[in-house]
Amino acid sequence: MPSIVVIGTQWGDEGKGKIVDHLAAKADVVARYQGGNNAGHTVVVKGVEHKLHLLPSGILYPGCLCVIGNDVVVDPAVLLKEIAVMRERGVDVSGLRISSRAHVIMPYHRLLDRLEEEQKGANKIGTTGRGIGPCYQDKVARVGIRFVSLLDKEAFAAELKQNIAMKDPILTKVYGQAPMDFQAIYDEYCGYAEQLRSFVTETTFVVNQAIAKQQKVLFEGAQATMLDLDFGTYPYVTSSHPIAAGACIGTGTGPRNIGKVIGVVKAYSTRVGEGPFPTEQLNEIGEKIRKIGHEYGTTTGRPRRCGWLDVCGLRFARELSAIDCMALTRLDILDSMPTLKICVAYRYHGALLDAYPASLKVLGEVEPVYEELPGWQSDITGIRRYEDLPTACRAYVERIAVLTGMRTGIVSVGPGRDQTIVCE
Ligand code: GTP
Repeated sequence: MPSIVVIGTQWGDEGKGKIVDHLAAKADVVARYQGGNNAGHTVVVKGVEHKLHLLPSGILYPGCLCVIGNDVVVDPAVLLKEIAVMRERGVDVSGLRISSRAHVIMPYHRLLDRLEEEQKGANKIGTTGRGIGPCYQDKVARVGIRFVSLLDKEAFAAELKQNIAMKDPILTKVYGQAPMDFQAIYDEYCGYAEQLRSFVTETTFVVNQAIAKQQKVLFEGAQATMLDLDFGTYPYVTSSHPIAAGACIGTGTGPRNIGKVIGVVKAYSTRVGEGPFPTEQLNEIGEKIRKIGHEYGTTTGRPRRCGWLDVCGLRFARELSAIDCMALTRLDILDSMPTLKICVAYRYHGALLDAYPASLKVLGEVEPVYEELPGWQSDITGIRRYEDLPTACRAYVERIAVLTGMRTGIVSVGPGRDQTIVCE
């Protein structure tokens, strides 16, 4: 196994957690490279559901080094809670490594996230309110607080003071909030620093050493391609780069060190929050998918918008990340569908579009061109060999592979570790 990047190809919630967990079994290092606790992987091991927001999925394998990379934004309280839950369940977390360059989510980030969303009103982005966006804003504005500062009391005090001086006028005058209490925040975060100190290190060294030693490194993307800051449906995007290139920046390694890119493709489409969604089914089909698939957000509990598979988006994802093969997930959710549709092109003002449009107006107005395939109408959750899948099911999988140009690497027929069909 060379180093592998696993990314979401749609709007997230494709089931990356399960695929990363499957691949992590053979990995020496698993590295998260972007996002924060707005992601929510779910991994089911021996019937126990583990919800991971910040910890890389490799944490469930003893001996695996788990890196939280430099482009991840970390809420220390959330991370400590996750560590505590894992310890309670008997999971060894000593393999965790946090980048000293990772930025820290502060209480004012969470507050500003909520206040800015409220102010946007009808134009709200649909953020999770966890402070992720404001933390990335501070990173780009070069006023963010990194772990390296958090662990140094003097540096932390100075940077916190500077941030409070900059943000208090906005919080008090624009939003009518009370001024921040420096000492309370300082004491709280110094407490977190002491609890996390032993995990913080130069993770670029950890990752690049592992690659140099020919060890297996798995880069774990959170969110997904259509939420990428540059290539997603801007502004309804996340504040980081979930595409494969993000793995290089988010951990500090070069593109030539990436051996393979696996795109996780959910067998239909879902989206949380606002923004255009050409194949959305605001009808009984969408409701059926939501009901059977329990399509509600892991982190927020919000109902997800549901629709047919969209190959236009998947082709774009393949190009952006040079995806080699797909891991097709949640195929079993379609078990009872009499017919299935795949969107193979977008028609706009009578013409078919070549490239994925940047304009949300265009994306909101495109007419999806569908191909219809018969459903298989049988339970596939117990099937373990590709050739045993119903013919109509294989036809659906193979059609997706042809239309997207991705090879079929993995087919997932249920949430369990064993419900995984490996095709290559
Ligand atoms: P984000 O990083 O937030 O995008 O999360 P994710 O891509 O890891 O998705 P999430 O963990 O929300 O996965 C969705 C759910 O699908 C979880 O409850 C998984 O256990 C489950 N799941 C994964 N693969 C399959 C599958 O093939 N079939 C079924 N029925 N459930 C699956």
